[in-house]
Amino acid sequence: RQWLVGAAAAAALIAAPAAALAQQPIVIKFSHVVAPDTPKGKGAEKFKELAEKYTAGKVKVEVYPNSTLYKDKEELEALQLGAVQMLAPSNSKFGPIGIKEFEVFDLPFLLPNLDALRKVTEGPIGKRMLKLMDSKGMVGLAYWDNGFKQMSANKPLKSPADYKGLKFRIQSSKVLEAQFRTLGAVPQVMAFSEVYQALQTGVVDGQENTWSNMYTQKMHEVQKFITETNHGYIGYVVVVNKKFWDGLPADIRTQLDKAMAESTQYANNQSAKENEDAKADIVKSGKTTILTPTAAEVAEMRKTMAPLYDDMGKRVGKELIDEVVKAVG
Ligand code: LMR
Repeated sequence: RQWLVGAAAAAALIAAPAAALAQQPIVIKFSHVVAPDTPKGKGAEKFKELAEKYTAGKVKVEVYPNSTLYKDKEELEALQLGAVQMLAPSNSKFGPIGIKEFEVFDLPFLLPNLDALRKVTEGPIGKRMLKLMDSKGMVGLAYWDNGFKQMSANKPLKSPADYKGLKFRIQSSKVLEAQFRTLGAVPQVMAFSEVYQALQTGVVDGQENTWSNMYTQKMHEVQKFITETNHGYIGYVVVVNKKFWDGLPADIRTQLDKAMAESTQYANNQSAKENEDAKADIVKSGKTTILTPTAAEVAEMRKTMAPLYDDMGKRVGKELIDEVVKAVG
């Protein structure tokens, strides 16, 4: 009897860690570089809420905003290594790991509005592009919006001549590099987390970004002018580590797919409003002057940048550019 009790206790001891282990939630570390109060930040929080709800706590999502874990380039390497499980880098950031095609979305004046973008991302081209992630140890799950980019500097930027000789911070995209070179400016790749300080100290003269990113990083406090060009777009691809994703129990993955689909809809429904609100806040701050280019100035910008559609064929693929141009038109 003594022995039996002892054996039962021993069995319980052996079983205990296994039981505890079985109850450990699966952790998804979701790292990103922007503030929580942005289209991407809110999308990430929504995904966390829905993923934890639909899996009844079997999955725990830890969101790390503001580059607290990794900056732009490092976060992609960390994802490939499995140090984090989920990211949403902008389209412009996949080049350095060998996926150049998403830079097609950086072509200036490509998208007249978000409906045009959806024709690409929600159609066959968008699906095919997501599959490109597979060869790099990732799975592409969804496209999330931020919004349209504006130009900023300490001098008024209206026509192409105004850009000449100025240094601009860019994301790591060859199309963006070419865009600023075409304008006679000097592009400099820099992590998002370093932009505010670079503008403040004059390491660069200007940058391009969405209202939401400018406002939440306080860029408008260190740039005298923002020109409302809407010349380009910032959007994200939500990616997960492929080994992690493929290794999940099928029922969990199904619930996470559902959470992702719903948080994508949520994120994309409120991104435009986020940017409008951020613009209003920038106006209200009175810390910068917002310029609206004339139709003639826009036409001049378009004309100057038009050769990029041919020139960038060798970078992102001529056929892809043609296909995308046709789909958005
Ligand atoms: C940038 O680097 O300017 C943006 O891609 C940041 C972001 O994630 O929106």
